[in-house]
Amino acid sequence: MALPAGPAPIGVFDSGLGGLSVLRAVRAQLPGETIIYVADSLYAPYGERDEDFIGDRTLAIGQWLVAQGAKVLVVACNTATAQSIAMVRERLPIPLVGVEPGIKPAAAQSKTRVAGVLATQSTLRSARFQTLLERYAADCRFLCQPGHGLVQAIERCDIGSAELRALLRGYLEPMLDAGADTLVLGCTHYPFLDTAIRDIVGDRMTLIDTSVAIARQLERVLEQNALRAEPAATVDLPRFCSTSDGAHLQQLAATLLQLDAPVERVVIPSRRTLSLAPDSQAA
Ligand code: DGL
Repeated sequence: MALPAGPAPIGVFDSGLGGLSVLRAVRAQLPGETIIYVADSLYAPYGERDEDFIGDRTLAIGQWLVAQGAKVLVVACNTATAQSIAMVRERLPIPLVGVEPGIKPAAAQSKTRVAGVLATQSTLRSARFQTLLERYAADCRFLCQPGHGLVQAIERCDIGSAELRALLRGYLEPMLDAGADTLVLGCTHYPFLDTAIRDIVGDRMTLIDTSVAIARQLERVLEQNALRAEPAATVDLPRFCSTSDGAHLQQLAATLLQLDAPVERVVIPSRRTLSLAPDSQAA
């Protein structure tokens, strides 16, 4: 297949809109790079899916991005990283950068030695997350709370409704009552809830979002592999792609990132989705 002309892009992928928080940090850190972003919104949320499904989608989207000419893949999804990055890394011919909840920085910063973690059920149950806790939690107690319903709300572009705030209060107040002074945002969707979270926790908690650290890690990987783009006079808009109609991707990118760009609807078949109802694969 002929690859598109021009400098090779960075591929960024998430189950849906959450990876936009990572894209924002990548654009700030690496303004000369072009980016293709894929939101697998047709199959979001991943957090309540099984490991095989998540691995199947991550691999298919990674292969699709390689076919589009991507020089590196950022798996901007904690759930996909936790469940499948090792398998996908073995099968793709390009370097991968994943994301994981900021347990290490939280353990380093917490003064009360109690910290909350908000992440998907799938991330919290993964062996990778358990290893992270064992390695870095040290004498810090982590209160792990699945954020049921939060990804679905953000996928609808709801970042502040009364229902969403009530859901968040139910997750955060027990952490505050237990003395937590630090909150790990262990899902890339959650940084978009920072205002709603702040309204509940005030200045009693430090929020840990790893997107800037991921952008720095990406820069190191590009440098190690001699893949940095030449400095450009202009900064390109990302190429936005979605497996659903893309309307919410366009809306969130415009309102929260001030990026007014069209969204292409793309079909990325995979073993597990071929057997699903045709209307859930429509393009
Ligand atoms: N942004 C994804 C993450 O970081 C959300 C996963 C989901 O779709 O449930 O985990």
